[in-house]
Amino acid sequence: MDSTTLAAVFGLLAVLSSAYIYLFSRPAFPRNAPALTPEAFPIIGSLQFFTKRWDFFQKATAHSSTGNFSFYAGQYPIIGVAGPEARKVFLENKGLAFAEGYAAMLGGSPKVKKEAHNPFSEDAGQESGFSAYFNKRLVNMLKGNQLKKGLPQLLQDARASLDKLVAEPTNVTDPFDSIYRMVFQFTMRTIACNDIADDPTTLSKCLQYFETIDGTATPWSIMYPWMPLWSKVQRTTAGAKLYMVFKRVVDGRKKTSIRGDDPLQYLIDQGDDITSIVTFVVGALFAGQLNSGINAAYVLMYLANNSYWLPRVREEVISVADRYCPDESMALKDRLVRVPIEAWENEFPLVDMCLKDSIRLQMSGTAFRKNVTDHEIPINKSGTEVIPSGAYVAWHVGDIHYNPEIYTNPDEWDPARYMPDRAEDKKEQYGFMGWGLGRHPCLGMRFAKLEMNVILAFFVAYFDTFTLSDAQGREVTRIPPTNRNNHTARKPEEKIYIKYKVAA
Ligand code: HEM
Repeated sequence: MDSTTLAAVFGLLAVLSSAYIYLFSRPAFPRNAPALTPEAFPIIGSLQFFTKRWDFFQKATAHSSTGNFSFYAGQYPIIGVAGPEARKVFLENKGLAFAEGYAAMLGGSPKVKKEAHNPFSEDAGQESGFSAYFNKRLVNMLKGNQLKKGLPQLLQDARASLDKLVAEPTNVTDPFDSIYRMVFQFTMRTIACNDIADDPTTLSKCLQYFETIDGTATPWSIMYPWMPLWSKVQRTTAGAKLYMVFKRVVDGRKKTSIRGDDPLQYLIDQGDDITSIVTFVVGALFAGQLNSGINAAYVLMYLANNSYWLPRVREEVISVADRYCPDESMALKDRLVRVPIEAWENEFPLVDMCLKDSIRLQMSGTAFRKNVTDHEIPINKSGTEVIPSGAYVAWHVGDIHYNPEIYTNPDEWDPARYMPDRAEDKKEQYGFMGWGLGRHPCLGMRFAKLEMNVILAFFVAYFDTFTLSDAQGREVTRIPPTNRNNHTARKPEEKIYIKYKVAA
């Protein structure tokens, strides 16, 4: 080999090793971070965190003397925490930022359009700026007076969706499609815009774009955000299409000077640009749609074969109707239209417990935070273990929701566990994560509970009986189990249907 070739080989090796170090290097954990879990692969770290999350957490916790452990997910250093002391720190410490944690660990919002002046785009790297903007807008949209104003339309939407089921000749529905779509329409109307909520074709397209964005956060795109992956192209394309849908509506309003009476108009009036609007809508759909849509369908499934809870829920619905519209000559579904918002929000305690235990079971996956301070945050009082500055933190909600020391027979759907005589969720200071705990309570809880109560009450009013079935309407007794390794509430892997009998 002559000296020129040798120099070229060394040059190439130098470039490759620099590229390797640049692309794959990751910060080392300090000595006082929890011990590294052996549940890991060389270079990429703990891929199991993505493929079998709950199994991974259980194994890693079992390996650790304190329950806490360190691991890498690609380039990210993460501290996994478990147990009462660590979860208190996770939920209460001001230095642990919510938006920064989720932004990286969920793959971030898609870039809908590059606009240099947009302070909320991914490029700007100001997640906390976006988070403050997002929460401020959402809180204004979901205030009590807004929910009250939106109630008649919500009831109308619910009835229109259920009328479609009545017209269905088979009397069989997949609730993870029909009820999920109903929730999507509610959400679109409540956090975005009437034009889309009123147009079934565009609404369906938006749901498809949302599901594409949701489905393209793959382990590799999260672990190495710089990798040029096909899933990123799909994600960006879906984001761009959503952008175009909203741009058309906004441009149309500007051109015709016809104002809408909806949250989109409120965003336009605040001077928000379309990029911010679409980023807001995608964020709000992620916060609300999966949890609400999946749980609404699951509660119906749990009730469908349940001879104890279904009659009790029906009694509750009838007694609310009796209170606000005692005219028994009217159909129950018509009497419910007279129920005021205050009753929708407060007078369905049994439905609330049914929903609560569904949420407990469906809420698999981890909550995330990031230490955005320039110092270490102690995980325990003795300060022997810390969360390093810049590290991410993951806490699996199974630590409480699937914990047999807190919940008796945790695999079972059992709303009675929340009755005052059992109050299993109150055994610990932080025993139920369903609506968030500590510094980040769910901002959509009032709206989510309202839509659940409306869906459940009207479903019971429209249909005298309903049972689990297959696609042909043949009775099924087994509810598909929830996959605890899911990262969030998800549709079941096996198809399941509900067969219903329309009330006379
Ligand atoms: C059944 C439905 C829902 C469930 C089970 C649920 C659950 C939760 C949970 C557990 C958290 C805390 C997460 C954490 O601390 O890491 C949370 C936060 C949040 N939720 Fe919900 N949620 C639901 C519906 C909604 C809806 C419909 C919206 C809005 C449209 C919404 C908006 C939010 C927001 C913005 C936050 C973050 C609050 C913050 O930044 O402090 N949620 N939710």
